[in-house]
Amino acid sequence: LAAGPLKGIKALVTSGPTYEPIDPVRFIGNRSSGKQGHAIAAALARLGADVTLITGPVKLPDPANMRVIHVETAREMLGTALGCLPVDVAVCAAAVADWTVSNASKEKRKKDASGQPPPIELAANPDILATLSEKGSARPRLVVGFAAETEKLLEHARAKFVRKGCDWIVANDVSPHSGTFGGDFNTVHLLTQGGAEEWPRISKTDVAERLAWKIADTLKGHP
Ligand code: PMT
Repeated sequence: LAAGPLKGIKALVTSGPTYEPIDPVRFIGNRSSGKQGHAIAAALARLGADVTLITGPVKLPDPANMRVIHVETAREMLGTALGCLPVDVAVCAAAVADWTVSNASKEKRKKDASGQPPPIELAANPDILATLSEKGSARPRLVVGFAAETEKLLEHARAKFVRKGCDWIVANDVSPHSGTFGGDFNTVHLLTQGGAEEWPRISKTDVAERLAWKIADTLKGHP
């Protein structure tokens, strides 16, 4: 592991989308590429942290100098994250599906003669960020969430900040014109107990670098 301000710090990062199967060949997913989460994992590793990256299905190569665990569903991501505890810091950048398909089929669904589409029933997925935020004695010292919003960015992000119980939340605009999903740039606000910081539009690598240094400053001050 590299020397650096995060030497001796264990970090968990979630990244990418989750896929919720409808049947063996179809799924419900989302547009996350994993670029932001992977960049955060890489930035933390560069500062010397011992990083575990839990990623949903992405097209990116595994970043170097960390443990990378590949998962598909939100439930797998949660189980894997809980298995990584204790850690000092958790950053939940994954775009986790809020719902899973409760009537997923073991076999490929067939078109029936009536031409009616089959019903897809949804059930709520567990919330990984909220679960990590309430873990009692195994709670990471710092839990960082993201809020992906297409409108009323700060209002919706503040509501999530309170509801999920994390320490910081990175609010990002993911409206179609922003190009955030899959793109190389991000425009974020960092919400902490101290208030909201507006960051300029910068590359996802720079968001990651800035966040990693902030994490280092915070954890250094509170052993
Ligand atoms: O992957 P990229 O293409 O680079 O795009 C980056 C990104 C836009 C996906 C990323 O920056 C981002 O915003 N990730 C969070 C996406 C998301 O699911 O946001 P949300 O507002 O729906 O969820 C809020 C927080 O709760 C997130 O930290 C999320 O990881 C977490 N969550 C949500 C649902 C759930 N069941 N479990 C969770 O842990």
